[in-house]
Amino acid sequence: METQGDQHAAGELLLRGGESSARPPELVQGISALRIEELAQEGRAPRRAGESHAAAATQVDDDDGDGDGDGDGDGDGDGGEAGGAVERRKRLSVLSIEEEFRHHKPGLARLNNGSFGSCPKSVLDAQQAWSRWWLRQPDECYFGPLEQGLHRARQEVASVIHAPVEEVFLLENVTAAASMVALDVMWAFAEGRYCKGDSILVLNFTYGAVKKAFQGYSSRAGGRVFQVTIPFPVSSEEQILQTFEEALKKERDEHPSSTIRLAVFDHIISMPTMILPIRKLVKLCRSYGVENIFIDGAHGIGNLELNMEDIDADFYTSNLHKWMFAPTTAAFVHCKAKHLARLHHPIISHLYGNGIVAECSWVGTRDYSALVAVPEAIQFVKDIAGSLEQYSNANHCKVVAMAEMLASAWGTFLGTPPEMCAAMAMIALPSPLNVHSPAELLSLRRRIREEYGVEVHLFFAGNSPQAISDEAESGGRLRIITTYVRISHQIYNTTDEYIQLRDAINDLALKA
Ligand SMILES: Cc1ncc(COP(=O)(O)O)c(C=O)c1O
Repeated sequence: METQGDQHAAGELLLRGGESSARPPELVQGISALRIEELAQEGRAPRRAGESHAAAATQVDDDDGDGDGDGDGDGDGDGGEAGGAVERRKRLSVLSIEEEFRHHKPGLARLNNGSFGSCPKSVLDAQQAWSRWWLRQPDECYFGPLEQGLHRARQEVASVIHAPVEEVFLLENVTAAASMVALDVMWAFAEGRYCKGDSILVLNFTYGAVKKAFQGYSSRAGGRVFQVTIPFPVSSEEQILQTFEEALKKERDEHPSSTIRLAVFDHIISMPTMILPIRKLVKLCRSYGVENIFIDGAHGIGNLELNMEDIDADFYTSNLHKWMFAPTTAAFVHCKAKHLARLHHPIISHLYGNGIVAECSWVGTRDYSALVAVPEAIQFVKDIAGSLEQYSNANHCKVVAMAEMLASAWGTFLGTPPEMCAAMAMIALPSPLNVHSPAELLSLRRRIREEYGVEVHLFFAGNSPQAISDEAESGGRLRIITTYVRISHQIYNTTDEYIQLRDAINDLALKA
């Protein structure tokens, strides 16, 4: 495209536009109706620390006997709501969740939404309509609609996370966001703003790719990466806060002349999963003089209420393709205004120097359709559950109920307390299934998938201080648990799938 360079060099990103609409004519407007009464009702069950989640997930069963499950006795399933809500619920009863996820491999129990997310048909349709428009007439799309589509997606995300749209930009995934911030740190060392030996805090459970970004860029430039060791199994938020505070004190005592330039921690650690008390951690870090905070919220949006001002991190990033039903790949970054001018996309393209929002809007010729389809994904959540809160609460209640069911069937325990779980949970596997190396772990995971048709993620806690006993004496010996399964719950999952997992593990334990 020979015109592209000129346009971009002139910084005319926002001037690409013609008159066309940001949406292709055939783009699906909103999401088709789904049958989600069950989910929406579960979503009304409040999340309370210490409560039996099995009870919370079922307490909303239809108790008025009208068959709609809403408990208001009118049989319309609207729970007594008026106007638009009634309309919506009526629409929701037309199609089924199965329709939306029919592209999933039949017969496979997908209990691992946490790893790769999922995307319903109606959102895929919206994405594909955009892709077809692009391929039919790229020029028309490029000059205007692409920019408008991305802007609309940023606006929708900004409103969900309660942030000014100017501080929000979209990019491919959290891995790229981590590299972006790690590069910023690298330049601070290279330009002498940071001194050799200044440090970057990460966790033992920081996601591997994210940790490597900071090791690869920031440590090579002179930063010292130090690790806070989060315990697992974990018992409470207080335990995390205490661990953190001890680590910060130790760092201050041992390296009094070094400044912690950046703390990197998760909103929801993915493996072993647990929600971290990020608001308290941000405050704690700042009280110890930590300059900047990067929160890896890969699992945040769609699971937890997000208010950027309230969280007060310098950088917060989350994947939209994990729990928000966006197509692969879509993520956002929220960045405090004071850092915006310094940030650059890790891939430099025509719009370098025009601001990070502009840089992310054109990273060379690539497929932007997943990003443009983000509003459809957000609308999908609203349509299926009424609100993000109901949606996330429903997933949370159900995953905890299923985790408790599995732990009780296997005679084990949860590695993360229910109130620290989002839509994923850790359950100790019976000790006959203990593995002793990452290779054995992979092999067990493969067997569960290939022989029993269940996709789950496993965690190896053994051969390290995290190896744990459940303190149940059997024949005078402590039972050591080295292996945990992580389950997820997403709206397409059914109770039968967790039963399939329960039986698979029982069978494998018998054969072990
Ligand atoms: C906690 C956490 N951070 C970062 C990532 C990376 O996400 P992506 O591969 O989409 O960049 C993941 C992916 O599972 C994750 O769980």
